Amino acid sequence: MLDKRVSDLLNEQLNKELYSAYLYLKMANYYAEEGLNGFENWFYIQTQEERDHAMLIRTYLLNNSEKVVLKEIAEPDKEFHSFLEPLEAALAHEKFVTESIHTVYEAAYNCKDFRTMQFLDWFVKEQGEEEKNTDDLVKKFQLFGSDAKGLYMLDAELGARVYSAPSLVL
Ligand SMILES: [Fe+2]
Ligand SMILES: [Fe+2]
Repeated sequence: MLDKRVSDLLNEQLNKELYSAYLYLKMANYYAEEGLNGFENWFYIQTQEERDHAMLIRTYLLNNSEKVVLKEIAEPDKEFHSFLEPLEAALAHEKFVTESIHTVYEAAYNCKDFRTMQFLDWFVKEQGEEEKNTDDLVKKFQLFGSDAKGLYMLDAELGARVYSAPSLVL
C-alpha cells in the first residue's frame, strides 16, 4: 500500500499520460491530413510512448496493492492552423507533464516513500529527454521548415523514427 496522496497523484498521472497519448494522436492525425507522413509518424510514436507511461504507472499501482482508477480522458480541444503550432503545443505540454511528475515526486519525498521516488526517477529522466527532443524539433522546424525542400527533408527524417519499448521494466 502507498500513502493516499501518493496513490491519488499516481492515478491522476496515469490519466495525464493517457491524455498525452490522446493529444499526440490528434497531432498525428493533423499531420496525416496535411500529407506530412513523417511528422505523423513522429507523433504516432509519441502516442505509443505515452500509452507505455500510463501502463507502467498501472503496473506500479497494482504491484503495490493499489486500486487503478480509470477516469474520463479529456478531449484534446486544440485546433491547429500551422505546421509549427503542434510542435510548440507539444513542448508546452511536456513542460506541464514534467511539473506534474515533480509534484508526485515531492509527495513521495514528503512521506519518505523511497520506492515511489525510485520508480519516478525513470520518469524524471524521461521528461528531460522528452523536453529536449521536442525543443530540438521546434528549432529544426524554425530553421528548415519554412522552405519546401527543407520541409520535405525534415518530414523524411521524422518518418525514419522507430518505436522502441520503454527501458523501464516492472
Ligand atoms: Fe509521458
Ligand atoms: Fe511525453
